[in-house]
Amino acid sequence: MTTNSALRIIMLGPPGSGKGTQATRICERYNLGHVSTGDILRRHIQQGSELGQKAETAMAAGELLPDSLLYQMLEELYEDRDGEHVSFILDGFPRSLEQAEALEEFLQNRGQKVHQVVMLVLDDEKVVARLAGRRTCPECGRSYHLLAAPPRNEGVCDEDGTELIWRTDDHEEIIRRRLQTYHQETEPVATFYQEQGVLREVDASADMDQVEARIASGLKELM
Ligand code: AP5
Repeated sequence: MTTNSALRIIMLGPPGSGKGTQATRICERYNLGHVSTGDILRRHIQQGSELGQKAETAMAAGELLPDSLLYQMLEELYEDRDGEHVSFILDGFPRSLEQAEALEEFLQNRGQKVHQVVMLVLDDEKVVARLAGRRTCPECGRSYHLLAAPPRNEGVCDEDGTELIWRTDDHEEIIRRRLQTYHQETEPVATFYQEQGVLREVDASADMDQVEARIASGLKELM
């Protein structure tokens, strides 16, 4: 990649593996756009939009939303931008083989491709521990962890002082349903990208700085 061309990365991995945390860090490091489908959907729910109303039930149950709604979001990402030069990390999309194939076609039609898929690897029990301790800012979407990454002042966001919440889908029963959905629907996406030679697995069980360094070292070859 030259400094003027676009870099398109996908962050894949189970819920709670650190996709959002690492996407935020890597975007700051390389000045990329962070597109989190989960954050976009939560904003729609907060605003009470039509999309938000459709999203709320599926998200609360730990299930995926219908593909058509996600494709509409993807189109919006490219709207009003110079698509050729859009650099981004997609966090939370694609989440099924159908979505991966649709993204492939979408980019191909624009003469573009995915440069690297970073697959964060973390076992199910560590996922449960991480998500049960996560607290989130409903205003800016930033994630904290009660033990691993607490806010400076208990219970409030460092960025904007908003009271942190415990996401309704971060309770153990729903976390386990999300994991089931992940194993069934999203794992085949890893195989899809492995066959294309762009998948890079990263052990996500280390601390946040180490995981970031591992991801960054794999991205160097694209720079
Ligand atoms: P979404 O919000 O995308 O949820 P997710 O993929 O399940 O991911 P999470 O946000 O829960 O976790 P993360 O991997 O980002 O981890 P984080 O960095 O926060 O999606 C929610 C729902 O929206 C879905 O269930 C679905 O219903 C719907 N949806 C979204 N996209 C869709 C799509 N494409 N199609 C259909 N439906 C869709 O880290 C977790 C915690 O661990 C934090 O507390 C963090 O501080 C801590 N942590 C992070 N890294 C470390 C570390 N190295 N060591 C210790 N703690 C750490």
